[in-house]
Amino acid sequence: MDQNALKKAVAEAALAHVEPGEILGVGTGSTANFFIEALAAMRDDIPGAVASSQATADRLKAIGIEVLDLNSVGSISVYVDGADEINAALEMIKGGGAALTREKIVAAVSRKFVCICDASKKVDGLGTFPLPVEVIPMARSYVARELVKLGGSPVYRDGVVTDNGNVILDVWNLSIDVPRRMEERINNIVGVVTNGLFALRPADVLLLGTADGVQTLRAH
Ligand code: A5P
Repeated sequence: MDQNALKKAVAEAALAHVEPGEILGVGTGSTANFFIEALAAMRDDIPGAVASSQATADRLKAIGIEVLDLNSVGSISVYVDGADEINAALEMIKGGGAALTREKIVAAVSRKFVCICDASKKVDGLGTFPLPVEVIPMARSYVARELVKLGGSPVYRDGVVTDNGNVILDVWNLSIDVPRRMEERINNIVGVVTNGLFALRPADVLLLGTADGVQTLRAH
């Protein structure tokens, strides 16, 4: 089975977690795009959705789902999104598509986070995938020097501007032994908007696409 078939299978399995009549949160990336395609079949059951990026907002509108401003929404029932890496505690690295800040905000407001991934994303330890960090442009060099002090090798993602008008540093070689602690330490660097560790708010459910079918995993 190719990777896209696995992504499509988990995207379709995620429909079972969508609560009819409730506001939905929708993530960003190729796996989330398969979810949006599948969601078209449920469009009449969904009063509105909050998007984690402009790209996702455009796709939701194209299938006829109303996109809501998060400030007009009290809470979100379920957030469905992919990840770049995920461990057994359902802690993740996200932000390969540069949407990490809005993804983290929507995840924070959601009662349940359903992560959808193909099997290649499941890891024993986080950090092989370079950790994306969204940074205020004027602080880029300062933040890079601080990330070096944490043992990382930051690389400026040339030419990328986030939906929030900021830049991305991709940090290689970090030893992420305790993801929550690293998330907090990087958050404390002045000029950092968000880092791509999702450990303080991990996923609640992982739908993992494998050659043997979709596995449902919960944190342990
Ligand atoms: C977007 O910024 C990311 O957090 C995505 O959720 C992540 O990169 C997964 O993307 P794919 O589904 O394309 O692998």
